[in-house]
Amino acid sequence: MTRGVFITFEGGEGSGKSTQVQLLVRALAARGIEVMVTREPGGAPGAEQIRALLVNGETGRWDPLSEALLHYAARREHLRHTILPALAGGRWVVCDRFADSTMAYQGYGHGVGRKVISALHAAVVGDLAPDLTLILDIPVADGLSRAASRGGEDRYERMDRKFHDRLRKGFLDIARLEPRRCVVIDATGTIEQVQATILGAVHDRLGVAVP
Ligand code: TMP
Repeated sequence: MTRGVFITFEGGEGSGKSTQVQLLVRALAARGIEVMVTREPGGAPGAEQIRALLVNGETGRWDPLSEALLHYAARREHLRHTILPALAGGRWVVCDRFADSTMAYQGYGHGVGRKVISALHAAVVGDLAPDLTLILDIPVADGLSRAASRGGEDRYERMDRKFHDRLRKGFLDIARLEPRRCVVIDATGTIEQVQATILGAVHDRLGVAVP
C-alpha cells in the first residue's frame, strides 16, 4: 500500500491555522481523499496529557530545554499511536502544528538553539518529514490581537512580544532553509483568500486539484 500524504500547518498565534486546517480537510474529503486530522501537542492519549502541562500555568514554569523535551515526548507518542499507523494505512494526515513549532517556539523563541532541537528531532522523528508544510504568516501584533479577541489566552499567548518576534523569524528561517517542503502563506487576508492560497499550494506542490 502506498504511504499516505503528510501535511502540516505551522504559524504563530492568531494566524487562523485551525480554521484553515478544517477547511482543507473538508476540501480533501470532498475530493474523496481519506484524511485524518490531528494536532500537536496532542493527538494521542499520553500526548494530550502532556499538552495540558505545556499550555496551562505560569509562562516561566518550565526550563526551556525541559519544555522542548516535553514537546518531543508528546510527539513520540503521537507518531507511534496516531500518525505513523494512519500513513502506513494509506490515509492522508493533516496535522495542526508539528516539529517546526518546536524549532520556532523553543529553538528560537526560548533560545534553545537549532543544534539541540535538530539533535532531539533526529532521535525522536528520524527521517520522517511532512510532504508539505504550510506556514501561515501574520505580523505579530495582528496575530496576538486576533488571539486575544478569541479569549482564554493559553500560556504561550501570554509570553512577551519579543518571544513572538523571535518565533516568527524562526518559521521564516525554516521556510528559507527548506523551500521544497515549506510554503509561506500570507495569512493577513480573509478566510476565503487564505484558503484559496492554501488550495493553490496543495495543487502546485502535491499535484492534487481540490474543489
Ligand atoms: P495551539 O494553540 O496551536 O493548539 O498550540 C498550543 C501551543 O503550543 C501554541 O501556543 C504553540 C505551542 N507549541 C510549542 O511551543 N512547541 C511545539 O512544539 C508545539 C507543537 C506547540
